[in-house]
Amino acid sequence: MTGQISEGKINEVRERTDIVELISQYVSLKRSGVNHMGLCPFHSEKSPSFSVNAARQFFHCFGCGVGGDAFSFLMQIEGLAFPDAVRRLAERIGIDLEERTPSPEEELRQRQRERLYRVNEVAANYFHQLLMDHPAGEVARKYMKARGYGRKAAGEYQIGFALDRWDGLKNHLEEQDLSADDARTLGLIRPGKQGRGDYDLFRGRLIFPIYDLSGQIVAFAGRVLDDSKPKYINSPESPIYHKGRVLFGLYQARQAMRQSGEVLVVEGYFDQLALCRAGFPQVVATCGTALTADHVQVLKRYVQRVILLFDQDAAGKKATFKAMTVLQEEGLAAAVIELPGGDDPDSFIQREGAEAFQLRLEKSRSVMDLFIDDLLAEAGSGIEQKARAAEKIVEQISGLSSELEQDLYLKELAARSGIDLGQLKEVRVRVAGQRQQKKKIVTEVPLTEEYPFPEDPFSETIGANHPQRTKPAAAKPGWSPSEKTLLCLLLKNHVPAEKILESGGLDLLHHQNSLDMAQLLLNHSADSGFDMESLAAELDPDKVLLLTALASFDQGQFCENVDAIFSDCLKSLQQEQIKRQRVESIDKIRHYEQGQETKNLNDSLKEFTNLK
Ligand code: UTP
Ligand code: MN
Repeated sequence: MTGQISEGKINEVRERTDIVELISQYVSLKRSGVNHMGLCPFHSEKSPSFSVNAARQFFHCFGCGVGGDAFSFLMQIEGLAFPDAVRRLAERIGIDLEERTPSPEEELRQRQRERLYRVNEVAANYFHQLLMDHPAGEVARKYMKARGYGRKAAGEYQIGFALDRWDGLKNHLEEQDLSADDARTLGLIRPGKQGRGDYDLFRGRLIFPIYDLSGQIVAFAGRVLDDSKPKYINSPESPIYHKGRVLFGLYQARQAMRQSGEVLVVEGYFDQLALCRAGFPQVVATCGTALTADHVQVLKRYVQRVILLFDQDAAGKKATFKAMTVLQEEGLAAAVIELPGGDDPDSFIQREGAEAFQLRLEKSRSVMDLFIDDLLAEAGSGIEQKARAAEKIVEQISGLSSELEQDLYLKELAARSGIDLGQLKEVRVRVAGQRQQKKKIVTEVPLTEEYPFPEDPFSETIGANHPQRTKPAAAKPGWSPSEKTLLCLLLKNHVPAEKILESGGLDLLHHQNSLDMAQLLLNHSADSGFDMESLAAELDPDKVLLLTALASFDQGQFCENVDAIFSDCLKSLQQEQIKRQRVESIDKIRHYEQGQETKNLNDSLKEFTNLK
């Protein structure tokens, strides 16, 4: 982009950037009072004197004296000029700096969204005041207190209370001159039947606002204060709320998630609150829905490991296994914590305390482990049942991205079931073959659902130690998730080919399949998009599967925030490249160490430190 960036845009970028989050990508920060502290990246030090203040969106080093806002941090650490720093941050949070004129429809939609956020904000303040100060809020304050929460938690989450009447919020919004239409779109008020006026959705309930990642309120949930049903009601979907994409508590938890690299996923609002209070702030709630691929995409930006804590009943287990498949597809490790039957995290912590939970957390095990145990136990000793269970387990195992992991689980399964390992491996080959077959027949089916997860880009280094091992054909689509995303952005023309070329993204591709695919796409790129048929005509039948996998990969999330996805994707590709270089570098170090080649060894050590 050329030309000036308007002051308004610069302010918008500044306001929407979270400096703690930004700096955390470069410095490991720990909360200390109102500040976050870490080792200064601008001078060498052993004890932390670098502080970041979230409220003031400011950083300062007591050691070397540098300081400033998010822009100056990025300018200094990346050596960027001011406009480039603004652009970089804008891209990260998905703000379009280009001052092109939006179409009238776009403008209307954007204005509507802004009004909807505003209505939610006013409603949240209204509910919150009722809980904090209004005499009628006493019942709700008592309820909160009985569950162990006071003003502090209520303030942090902006929890509220809806009066037990039909027109409390409705009147309040009217007084503020806010449109009833917008409130209806949000489901906050509903049109009455037979000419009777609108009425409030939430009545006599404790109210939880649900935030999106930029801290705006997109929806509400309301809990009854007694045992009546339904226990919770929730805002319906709206132009600003898609429940399959939102996680309760993510806005509050994201920093802790990044720091710990893991997240606890629970079902309920109070489970999220309870874990946070007990000292486990890396927690989000799915609010009673299944964990979706969109959820996982979001979590992936923050963590490598997901620990599931769904209800301890049959439905909870089913949800856990389903979530495992989704997580597996995205290459995230899936673990599970088991609690006594009938407990949820909230009731467990209330009764047993935080330390008991910590012990359970330490004993968390992989979901696959639970899956194997569970299916084998269910099958019992009947031969047919056992064989069927083993097949199901092998099928699940063969979806794991790392082949080493697959092998370890197959061994485990062999030991636990008494079935011969060789036979299990044969089953794996067959299962993979069946998948391939299925896909050839129904290419319309979104292949991401079933296509074996791309090989772990780093498993090659492990594989190199096992040269004689044979691989089942279908378990090798041979590209990493980020490579797949980049190719999909290209194929769908979400990001123009020139921009991808300029960004250097294609140079970061590593696997042969993605290199081939990129070449093919570039050869065929046209302004009008790609012609799938002519693309397919140039490919071997097995490569056509890769193309269809790409074509069906886009699950709607791309259109929302292409810039952020693109920049995240570039970042992961760079990280993958660095990891590969590190592995190479370690090999070199070993080699030089053995040969006692001091000079080369020192160079390699330096190279390794740089990569780190
Ligand atoms: P639970 O029924 O397990 O409730 O539902 P809970 O979270 O333990 O609630 P408390 O502790 O009694 O307050 C789990 C989640 O499912 C959704 C809510 O998100 C709830 O937190 N749910 C449940 C609903 O949306 N509606 C309902 O009527 C019940
Ligand atoms: Mn509960």
